[in-house]
Amino acid sequence: MFVNKYPDYHIYNLDKLTYAGNLENIADIENKSNYTFIKGDIADNTYIEKIFNEYNFDAVIHLAAESHVDRSITNPLEFVMTNVIGTVNLLQAANKTWLDKTNKLFYHVSTDEVYGSLEETGKFTEETAYDPHSPYSASKASSDHFVRAFFDTYKLPIVISNCSNNYGPNQFPEKLIPLFINNIQQNKNLPVYGNGLNVRDWLYVEDHVDAIDQIFHKGKLGETYNIGGNNELTNLELIDTLIKVVDKKLNRKEGSSKKLITFVEDRKGHDLRYAIDLTKINSELNWNPTLNFEKGLEKTVNWYLDNEKWLSNVTSGDYKDYYEKMYD
Ligand code: TYD
Repeated sequence: MFVNKYPDYHIYNLDKLTYAGNLENIADIENKSNYTFIKGDIADNTYIEKIFNEYNFDAVIHLAAESHVDRSITNPLEFVMTNVIGTVNLLQAANKTWLDKTNKLFYHVSTDEVYGSLEETGKFTEETAYDPHSPYSASKASSDHFVRAFFDTYKLPIVISNCSNNYGPNQFPEKLIPLFINNIQQNKNLPVYGNGLNVRDWLYVEDHVDAIDQIFHKGKLGETYNIGGNNELTNLELIDTLIKVVDKKLNRKEGSSKKLITFVEDRKGHDLRYAIDLTKINSELNWNPTLNFEKGLEKTVNWYLDNEKWLSNVTSGDYKDYYEKMYD
């Protein structure tokens, strides 16, 4: 999005291309003259310092992370390597190579899961105390603390945002929405953890990108901004709507895929509820989510069902092993 919207910027996209990374997702910008792809691992400090010296970046938008809670429960160390060590490597490289820090910015993109779990009422504000529960959220909380520590200690110009659950095209089908679209299409069980009453606040990915754009350009240094969809749903409410939309698109009888719902053992340490108070980003940066959830879900379902080849490519190989270990 930045590549097309800001032709005067040169965008360097650094990615390790793990199982979830896929250059096919950004084939449309591959040949743009203001875009360069760099394959690399943020956990490799020598390499990171080298590319900071080589390219002399003006700013960093740090989105690189291991992000799937279930995987963090099986392999917490991988999350420490990328999310914690990787973030500190980037901070160090920026701090070392940005001799003059004016007009520089290190923007760290994080999650609302650092705040822990809400009961039935209340919302996360930027003042909510950190209380992460999963190895994933603990690793992101740690990275957030390091980013603030670099602001306080070295005056590195930083800004942080903490966002709720994203959905939309191109999301790896381990996350609830794409996983369930794929399973409904293939008549496979829909594994609902616990009683399905956990609440998430869903945000369409393009609304998140727009919030990042606003924060990157107008956010105050040293500040944190929460981003959310104003769109709380229990998992069962979400799954019901999803089934309706997918059944309709597949010309199946409305609700016929409900029979696929299967309650399975709860996720360990499963957070009950996340919800975002948007007051700060709304009043300071005039940002609000724009896309209505039904529309966003329909766009998402259409994208997945129209891109079967993409789905079959990413659900072969390693994905099959993961799925069997996780759900069979
Ligand atoms: P997920 O997409 O993994 O996002 P997060 O854990 O970061 O919120 O899960 C969203 C919700 O859906 C969460 O409450 C866990 C639940 N869930 C299931 O019930 N079954 C599944 O197979 C998955 C992947 C998630």
